[in-house]
Amino acid sequence: MMKAIGFTQHLPITDGHSLEDIELPKPAPTGHDLLVNVQAVSVNPVDTGTRGAGHRQLAQPKVLGWDAVGTVDAVGDQVTLFQPGDRVFYAGSYKRSGSDAEYQLVDERIVGHAPQKLTDAQAAAVPLTSLTAWEALFEKLHIPLDDRQTNQRHTILIINGAGGVGSMATQLADWAGIHVIATASQPESIEWVKNHHAEIVLNHRQPLPAQLHAAGYKNVDYILNLSHLDEHWAEIAEMIRPDGWVAAITENRRGIDLQKLTRKRATFAWEWMFSKSWYGYDLASQGAILNRIAGLLDAGTLQDTLTKTLSPLNAANLRQAHALVESGHMIGKVVVAGPWA
Ligand SMILES: NC(=O)c1ccc[n+]([C@@H]2O[C@H](COP(=O)([O-])OP(=O)(O)OC[C@H]3O[C@@H](n4cnc5c(N)ncnc54)[C@H](OP(=O)(O)O)[C@@H]3O)[C@@H](O)[C@H]2O)c1
Repeated sequence: MMKAIGFTQHLPITDGHSLEDIELPKPAPTGHDLLVNVQAVSVNPVDTGTRGAGHRQLAQPKVLGWDAVGTVDAVGDQVTLFQPGDRVFYAGSYKRSGSDAEYQLVDERIVGHAPQKLTDAQAAAVPLTSLTAWEALFEKLHIPLDDRQTNQRHTILIINGAGGVGSMATQLADWAGIHVIATASQPESIEWVKNHHAEIVLNHRQPLPAQLHAAGYKNVDYILNLSHLDEHWAEIAEMIRPDGWVAAITENRRGIDLQKLTRKRATFAWEWMFSKSWYGYDLASQGAILNRIAGLLDAGTLQDTLTKTLSPLNAANLRQAHALVESGHMIGKVVVAGPWA
């Protein structure tokens, strides 16, 4: 048996039963799966959203968690990329049981070697947000990775620069050579965004186009929306340049009017970090991205984004981490680190 944290009822995080300490059978790896002994996990809005959405009583406990660092304990018979003892980090698949467990199965192809110079807590903060930011910038906005000369002529606006994804996206866009404008609304988040390579910071609680114009920009080449797409859509359409590119990672509650982009011939794309593992294609690209991110962190090119660590790994601390993410005002990332208690 192994320790885990899960729930059987969708309850508010203030309820002690919203996440509970449980015991589950320890799984065994087959095929391309690694069995990972999880040492630290991070919490993302996908955790709080999945926990909070739904009314039914579950027959089996649901284990959340899509950000982990740990050590490979055993491998399936088709595994070629890792061996027992390797320190790994990954986000995992939305279809499978999550990382809030002492042991977790994960497909080796969506796993990276953990950054050597980062602590477990620092490394656990990285996978989901860096995969999302990387795929959005380089796969969906099609920013050319190895063409700094072109990128230096371009500007990106990142809406929500201080959250988990924004903290990585600002750094990665700057690394690619693009001028970065990001949004934040509080003194601490404004400071954080500047420290993560935004040249200009706009306040997303005030109209954005007027602030963009006041900063000397008529429009921008790229917009990456990381919060409240409905709320920002009209402004996005106004601020993007003709033939520009827009990507979003947040679902919209109301319909968005794509016609607002028609005259500008601007391109709109969704990013969903789980698409590849959900539909089972291009899996190895996520392992490759994580290995590249680990190299950039170890080289000091990227800074880790950890701002809060809770320990030990138990339901009480995970509930605290969920409450912080649910506040909607996170700066960087919160992690719950082992030992398991
Ligand atoms: N599609 C995907 O693959 C994917 C992956 C990861 C996340 N997501 C989604 O992307 C969103 C961001 O994720 P995250 O982990 O970065 O979230 P997060 O860390 O919880 O974001 C917190 C930040 O959001 C900012 N914010 C709050 N209201 C805002 C608004 N109206 N406009 C702009 N910014 C606002 C806050 O800034 P202030 O406090 O300064 O206002 C805060 O710093 C979430 O909705 C999440 O579900 C999607």
